[in-house]
Amino acid sequence: MTRTTFALALLAFANATPAQIGAPPRDKQLVISHRGASAYAPEHTFLAYDLAIKQNTDMLECDLILTKDEVPVCIHDETVDRTSESTGRVDSFTLAELRLMDFGTWFNTANPTLARPEFVGAKIVPLEEQLDCYLRLNPKMRFHVETKDSAGGRAEQIFFEMLTRKGLLETGDPAKKVTTTTMLLQSFDIGSLERFRGLSDAIPTAYLVAAPTTVGELAGTLPDYVDVYAPNAAALLANPLLIPLYHQNGHDVHTYTVNDAQQMGLLLDMGIDGIFTNNSDILRAEVDARGHQQTEAERSVNPTEFAPGCPGIAGRVTSNRGPGDVWEPTGLRGVRLKPVDTMPVPTMPAVIGPAPVAGSIMATGRLGGGSLGGALLGLFGFAVLRRQFRR
Ligand code: G3P
Ligand code: CA
Repeated sequence: MTRTTFALALLAFANATPAQIGAPPRDKQLVISHRGASAYAPEHTFLAYDLAIKQNTDMLECDLILTKDEVPVCIHDETVDRTSESTGRVDSFTLAELRLMDFGTWFNTANPTLARPEFVGAKIVPLEEQLDCYLRLNPKMRFHVETKDSAGGRAEQIFFEMLTRKGLLETGDPAKKVTTTTMLLQSFDIGSLERFRGLSDAIPTAYLVAAPTTVGELAGTLPDYVDVYAPNAAALLANPLLIPLYHQNGHDVHTYTVNDAQQMGLLLDMGIDGIFTNNSDILRAEVDARGHQQTEAERSVNPTEFAPGCPGIAGRVTSNRGPGDVWEPTGLRGVRLKPVDTMPVPTMPAVIGPAPVAGSIMATGRLGGGSLGGALLGLFGFAVLRRQFRR
């Protein structure tokens, strides 16, 4: 621990108030849509994600749980009880069974002033569909994925296999991976981050905590498999020197869940790197007002006009093997759809008549079997081909 770090750690216990702490951010500050734009639409549905995109979010969150048939889906609770009309553990249902459930009606009941008929019957979203849908809309979209239940390590394994299959492991500049990455893995379970890092070090990790509890955390230190410190906002507001302390040690700090403009402003002015919010529109305005948003080149601008609900992608996934898109990185950050394998484009135009002879020239390099007739036929075919090429 350096002297500066030690001093900052001591100050973290002092009585400084957030208003007394003003620090420029290390880099651009991120709007992270918590379960989508979940203040306005049923959480973890395409309706909430679409709205977050329209509100120009930087990152979409997915709380990852495996279904009974081990498909990663985005849902916060271990059961479907709160957010559907059904009951039972998520991992007791197959994806096909979960797709029959209504994940929208509860929102209308809980929020009568925000209720909309189109929320009724909203569907569960497999992580792979979230990724494909919004990368197609903005190839520089980012995803903050939280392992909610490791399922004995299967969640990390399947997440890793999915990212590998989809080409999404290597999606940024490794030297600046938190700021340039497409994918981030977060968890309250530090063991989940360690397990994933054992599989790959290509994805940055974020450790979620309610508040710092260990001496190491209070000193701003983290295990080498953790990149981002992510305490509850209340902990940062109570200990405003935690952010500079972690920055001093090379770690970004993200915080959850902040829906109030004044608190957002305090945290942004304290130098926070990313905030989870249900109200992406409010946070977007606060970040942009300070001029700390990513440039258009860094994040692209989300489209505002697009077909809702991801037609063509919603409902496409049937297992943890897809089907889904395959992506490849572009430049410093961002991805593009990898062209699907197609039949080789013919190098010769279609030939009518003496085509077989011409084929024999190409295939054998000889003129039609060595006879004079064959040679003449071969020459005839060659002449036809030359004529075709000149067109
Ligand atoms: O992942 C950040 C924040 O979402 C943690 O709380 O309970 O909403 O997942 P929770
Ligand atoms: Ca979460």
